Amino acid sequence: MELDSNPAGLRNTVRFRFRGRVVALDRFSPRATVLDWLRESAGAKGTKEGCAEGDCGACTVVLARNRKGRLTYDAVNACILLLGQLDGAELITVEDLADGEALHPVQQAMVDWHGSQCGFCTPGIIMSLFAAYHSGAPSTRASLCDQLAGNLCRCTGYRPILEAALATCDRAPDDRFAATAEARTDALARMNDNADLFVGDETSFFAAPASVEGLAALYARFPDATLVAGATDVGLWVTKQLRDLKRVIWLGRTAGLDDVGETADGALSLGAGVTLADAAPLLGAIHPDLGEVMRRFGSIQVRVSGTVGGNVANGSPIGDLAPALIALGGRVVLRTGWSTRSLPLEDFFIAYGKQDRAPGEFVLAVEAPRLAEAQRFRAFKVSKRFDEDISAVMLAARVEVDRGRVVGARIAYGGMAATPKRAANAEKALVGAILDEPATWRPALAALSSDFTPLTDQRASASYRMTVAANLLEKALLEIAGAAAPTRIGELHAAE
Ligand SMILES: Cc1cc2nc3c(=O)[nH]c(=O)nc-3n(C[C@H](O)[C@H](O)[C@H](O)COP(=O)(O)OP(=O)(O)OC[C@H]3O[C@@H](n4cnc5c(N)ncnc54)[C@H](O)[C@@H]3O)c2cc1C
Ligand code: FES
Ligand code: FES
Repeated sequence: MELDSNPAGLRNTVRFRFRGRVVALDRFSPRATVLDWLRESAGAKGTKEGCAEGDCGACTVVLARNRKGRLTYDAVNACILLLGQLDGAELITVEDLADGEALHPVQQAMVDWHGSQCGFCTPGIIMSLFAAYHSGAPSTRASLCDQLAGNLCRCTGYRPILEAALATCDRAPDDRFAATAEARTDALARMNDNADLFVGDETSFFAAPASVEGLAALYARFPDATLVAGATDVGLWVTKQLRDLKRVIWLGRTAGLDDVGETADGALSLGAGVTLADAAPLLGAIHPDLGEVMRRFGSIQVRVSGTVGGNVANGSPIGDLAPALIALGGRVVLRTGWSTRSLPLEDFFIAYGKQDRAPGEFVLAVEAPRLAEAQRFRAFKVSKRFDEDISAVMLAARVEVDRGRVVGARIAYGGMAATPKRAANAEKALVGAILDEPATWRPALAALSSDFTPLTDQRASASYRMTVAANLLEKALLEIAGAAAPTRIGELHAAE
């Protein structure tokens, strides 16, 4: 096979650290999950399966990774993480925390505070708390609520769990993982090479190119392969749709794909592989509403794995990033082979499940323009739950104001059509409106009914969606006009 174009060579084994040794796998199904491997091959049954779709957190494990010279501890959902995605990481499970007979501090605190009843959620909760214990910053009640948002406990209730968390995650870590951090970081660094990874053969493989060039070449050669970034969508294709993925190209080792930068005209550029967790503060710096939307994006387990590129490329009509980026005037940068092109993000979404992406073409980056002085921005996500829930309706709006008059508007919605979509008629009707005179912007609210014919589904009825869409735009305009105080659930939670 002529896949060895990389001077650093080709590696045919996935390698990760587990219980003090390096596991090297040269044969496995590309669709195998970490949870299946743990329970069925490694005999490590402490990690539980609940929902098998990334929602309940029973399967939470921690990946220790050497990220840009720092050892990080990320809680991830093993049920939707593909086995090959462990490459270069150290896998830590609930069985690994105790030191002989001595429980780990987070385990002992859960005992002391009576944080477990039936115990089914407990291994996952322990692992989320272990990640918080090693987060590098003292935790607060708000940060711990965020940390636990992806862990469902059905019987104990969260008060004792939070008390246990507060009692232990308030100091610098002092356990055997902290004591061995340097040696383990070195061991991870030794394992990480710049070789392209290819396990399997042409009919069935798990590959992970080390460079963008390698990725472009491999995907051009196998355009029917499944690209996998964080697998927070693709993992569910495996566990819920039972899809048999034969050829998988994982983007998690592709150098440069997680770069953050600035375009020539000052827009924020996020490489497709930038995780949602890393993107959150950068988007929040453009506007605080984006910070809140990102805080409410799935759970920490989802945000540390899921990527910006995956959220855009999946073309979901209810994805959270697309409306926000469209309203900002964002662009998507695509690459195929040696050529790169860029287009306004709204033009990328053609129809339900269909994006403007040629065979072998992949998302390289997205660009998010920053706000000019005259531009006001609002973004609201409406979902049934505050945490860990997909939008029923999402509005993002950028309104340009000159001396109290609207001179430009970009209004984008999720959940209102088969794709994330601009409200072209409402935008037109809003231009010329006077902010202080609601009667002048009401036609824009009315125009929404000519922009959208939403669906009824399990998340919301069509009429609910239409009403909410108009209410959100009205709320945005009232806030921009200074006639209503902003209300954000995230701020209320943080203040609790
Ligand atoms: C419990 C849970 C909660 C969630 N909550 C939210 C939420 O609140 N809001 C929301 O919007 N989404 C949510 N999601 C969906 C998902 O997390 C996001 O869509 C996420 O951004 C997907 O990114 P990923 O890297 O995991 O993509 P993957 O699952 O790896 O891939 C998704 C799709 O994109 C393709 N792809 C990935 N990267 C590229 C690339 N660079 N170029 C071309 N194609 C690519 C893949 O082939 C696949 O078709 C949730 C998912 C779960 C499981
Ligand atoms: S089993 Fe529920 S999140 Fe994995
Ligand atoms: S202790 Fe029973 S689900 Fe949490």
